[in-house]
Amino acid sequence: MKAFVHEYGEMKLKEMKEPIAGEGEVVVSLHAAGLNRRDLGLPNRRGSEADALILGSDGAGTIDSVGVGVNGVTVGDEVIINPALRWQDNSDAPPQGFDILGMPDNGTFAEKIVLSAEQVEPKPAHLSWDEAGVLALSALTGFRALFTKGEIKADETVFIPGAGSGVATYLISFAKNIGAKVIVTSRSEDKRKQAKELGADIVLDTASDWPKELVNETIDLVIDSVGRATFNRSLEVLKKGGRIVVFGATTEDNVELNLRAFFYGQYRLIGTTMGSRQELRAMLEHVENYNMHPVVDSIFSLDNAQGAFDYLREANQFGKVALRIK
Ligand SMILES: NC(=O)c1ccc[n+]([C@@H]2O[C@H](COP(=O)([O-])OP(=O)(O)OC[C@H]3O[C@@H](n4cnc5c(N)ncnc54)[C@H](OP(=O)(O)O)[C@@H]3O)[C@@H](O)[C@H]2O)c1
Repeated sequence: MKAFVHEYGEMKLKEMKEPIAGEGEVVVSLHAAGLNRRDLGLPNRRGSEADALILGSDGAGTIDSVGVGVNGVTVGDEVIINPALRWQDNSDAPPQGFDILGMPDNGTFAEKIVLSAEQVEPKPAHLSWDEAGVLALSALTGFRALFTKGEIKADETVFIPGAGSGVATYLISFAKNIGAKVIVTSRSEDKRKQAKELGADIVLDTASDWPKELVNETIDLVIDSVGRATFNRSLEVLKKGGRIVVFGATTEDNVELNLRAFFYGQYRLIGTTMGSRQELRAMLEHVENYNMHPVVDSIFSLDNAQGAFDYLREANQFGKVALRIK
């Protein structure tokens, strides 16, 4: 089968052996997959000595075969892949053994994938294959960040810098669905327009003077995954006693923090990553209940996966980048 792999320092299309379902496993014939910023960093993390690994965390497709001992999943079922491996029940942090699909295990940028039957969930019927293929990782991360960790309420205001990010587009929709007020920033005028169309109440240029622009707003919650470029500026607009949730650092991991300003502000800084299967199921239910559709910015073929990587690296997208496999 055809797959997009990282092998000895190079990313390329490669013919790989078709996977076979072992005990408790299923083979999924993939229709679509989704890119995440994580995929861009894996080649560096693997270096030039490692042999072929199929990249990709997100995907959706039909069940092709099932191994012995699999119950409740049958050939032909339409499924979405849960990339948060071995994290079933809600908990403050992932359990021992948790990993993200796509390293070290083979990922979704291939015609087929084998994985534990516990890692597939029914595909929401209202989603196209491309939409289902880009949903899980970003939407799960955003769902936990906003609801479980951020504890957003309907009468609260959330501030999200970097509106064009895949996760941010889900955050905007989730928060608007429950009636919260959403304020976002973006460096791009076009993305600010799209964020407004998606439902954001206030959109600001990332380069603008946020405290001045938001002088009449009370921000209860900040969700910042941009990192160094925005973290301290985000704290400046958060109300005293407010919460700031972090799950990414696109610009840089290290930030300087003025501890005195932090404790006088009585802020709460909360870290999160991905989510449990329970949270994934709650997210899928939310997506169905609100007839929500992921924002798919662009679709590339599996043959042109390299083009999709190059495009994501440019950060010009608003929402998600999909790979169409079938
Ligand atoms: N821990 C987890 O489980 C987890 C899961 C998913 C994602 N993440 C992390 O969360 C972050 C967001 O992920 P994503 O896939 O949604 O990212 P993405 O689609 O690549 O978007 C990143 C966004 O950051 C903003 N940005 C980039 N450089 C900036 C700069 N210099 N100044 C201000 N804003 C800047 C841009 O927004 P504008 O173009 O609108 O300005 C850009 O669209 C990434 O760091 C990712 O690795 C972590």
